[in-house]
Amino acid sequence: MKALITGANKGIGFAIATEMAKQGIEVFVGARSKDRGLAAVNELVSKGLKAHYVQIDLQDQASIELAASEIDDLDILVNNAGIPDSPKAGQPALQMDKAVEEYSNDDLRLTMEVNFLGTHAVINQFLPKMTTTGKIINLTVPIQPNEFWHPLAYMTSKAALNAMIMAYAWEFDAKHQQRQIFGVLPGAIATDLNGTTVGDLGGLVRSSEDAGKLITKLALDSVNHNGEIVQYDGKILSDYEAQLR
Ligand SMILES: NC(=O)c1ccc[n+]([C@@H]2O[C@H](COP(=O)([O-])OP(=O)(O)OC[C@H]3O[C@@H](n4cnc5c(N)ncnc54)[C@H](OP(=O)(O)O)[C@@H]3O)[C@@H](O)[C@H]2O)c1
Repeated sequence: MKALITGANKGIGFAIATEMAKQGIEVFVGARSKDRGLAAVNELVSKGLKAHYVQIDLQDQASIELAASEIDDLDILVNNAGIPDSPKAGQPALQMDKAVEEYSNDDLRLTMEVNFLGTHAVINQFLPKMTTTGKIINLTVPIQPNEFWHPLAYMTSKAALNAMIMAYAWEFDAKHQQRQIFGVLPGAIATDLNGTTVGDLGGLVRSSEDAGKLITKLALDSVNHNGEIVQYDGKILSDYEAQLR
């Protein structure tokens, strides 16, 4: 089996690549930086795992097209690469205390460009290169705001991603295809994205290895997840509209 994971040079993406390779899957480590991508591949290969580097920058259509031209018969595509906001020097990527009215259009535009348009371009280019039973797995976040969770750029870009998942899933069903596309809510995971450590938030924050195992399990099971948003605890949100009410 072959799997491509975008943004696999670190964090959850690297953990997914590691776990999938341990399960005998030939992994393609997507990364926008050649140095960071090759370092990740070398780490996997040094452990006896099968991995290749693929240059993919979600803001560079040409890189996505070139990557897709290099891979055939892909079984699993994990759209993992993502950002929570436009990067600001000296600040964590995800600013939990940023008020909704503090977001500029530039923040929204960049986050949408990577999380939604970039992911769309990857799906669009790789779908013809996937097997007829291929699975497309997308990392997503909760889109209902509350006192602690209201990152406008992150939520809105992932809400658009969730809607895209539903649209593709509908089409796979309508065309009686066996392909699947679904979202995964991994919960709070300790990575550079949020600057947390395992056990933070009263024990809520878990490791990227936990997320890697969850996503690999979903990639390899024989359940039809098409159109689902699967939460880390196994809860399935299959009615996207219900999430919005
Ligand atoms: N951590 C969490 O609690 C959590 C919870 C729910 C969902 N998620 C989702 O899980 C995914 C991975 O997040 P993470 O926590 O592992 O974050 P991370 O450690 O910051 O890793 C993000 C990855 O995405 C890559 N990336 C960013 N912009 C890119 C672009 N334009 N083109 C290609 N790659 C790009 C990064 O590459 P560079 O190293 O080059 O920057 C990095 O490899 C994201 O989609 C995130 O929304 C995370």
